[in-house]
Amino acid sequence: MSPQVAARNVLVVIGTGGMGLAVARRLAAGRRILLADWSAPGLEATVGTLRGEGHEAEGHTVDVSQRDSVEKLAEAAGAAGRVDAVVHTAGVSPVMATARQIYEVDLLGTAHVIDAFLPVASAGTSLVCVASMAGHFASLTADLERHLATAPTDELLEHKELDLNADPGLAYVVAKRANQLRVQAAAHTWGAKGARLNTISPGVISTPMGAQELQGPAGVHIQAMLDLSGARRAGTPDDIASAAAFLTGPDSAFITGNDLLVDGGTVSAQRWNATATA
Ligand SMILES: NC(=O)c1ccc[n+]([C@@H]2O[C@H](COP(=O)([O-])OP(=O)(O)OC[C@H]3O[C@@H](n4cnc5c(N)ncnc54)[C@H](OP(=O)(O)O)[C@@H]3O)[C@@H](O)[C@H]2O)c1
Repeated sequence: MSPQVAARNVLVVIGTGGMGLAVARRLAAGRRILLADWSAPGLEATVGTLRGEGHEAEGHTVDVSQRDSVEKLAEAAGAAGRVDAVVHTAGVSPVMATARQIYEVDLLGTAHVIDAFLPVASAGTSLVCVASMAGHFASLTADLERHLATAPTDELLEHKELDLNADPGLAYVVAKRANQLRVQAAAHTWGAKGARLNTISPGVISTPMGAQELQGPAGVHIQAMLDLSGARRAGTPDDIASAAAFLTGPDSAFITGNDLLVDGGTVSAQRWNATATA
């Protein structure tokens, strides 16, 4: 008689950069892993790393800015088994992208993930989308906030206050605030299936993206923010993986439509200690 092998739940990690790899490693135990990224060489390398560590992993080339690309990934995940955790870490930052790219990847891409994974979500599924502490610095009109939260996804980039040629830093703030709002607005619908979704808003994290930002034009300002923060350091990808483990696990069963700020106290220091020197 052949041995019985328990069916594995499915973990989907979108974006296989610094945070994506840490999240995949943290959540992999006992799960079948689907990894997705638009960069095939990087994706293959990450799949190879996880397989080499004994995990059951497969790669899917996906561009989150394209709706059909994300839908195909969600269909593949649903066909692979019960999807119990989805963590969306793919994104671009101001130092590497134009405002248009930031809106298409960070803002629209997250909306695509929320839409595409709803059909394969079931009781206990948890989706986590990585936003940013940048979203906590946004000051948007009520009309734009309502639009970003609730507009049909194919109309999401059509609003008089969204300038696709804006400064990339401003676009990033708007896109990351949009992620937080979109998740809030979708929680009721996801709840009808017994599923949850939340955002994590990281502060500065030591990944390739975080390093590029620190070396970029805003680097001095970012370092000053870190020096003033409660933790007085940049975060690690593991700090984000810990938050993702919490939000995809049973200890957060009553948390949905919410944002978890994982920034070492950077935002709070900007609000209350911005003139302090130590
Ligand atoms: N690191 C930080 O300090 C920090 C702080 C706050 C928020 N965040 C957010 O955290 C998330 C993860 O960042 P990270 O630090 O892990 O960055 P990362 O190391 O650059 O990883 C991001 C990954 O997303 C991929 N990607 C970019 N555009 C994509 C697309 N259209 N479709 C599919 N994959 C795409 C990238 O591929 P390529 O490398 O080939 O482009 C990369 O593998 C992002 O949403 C970022 O905005 C980061």
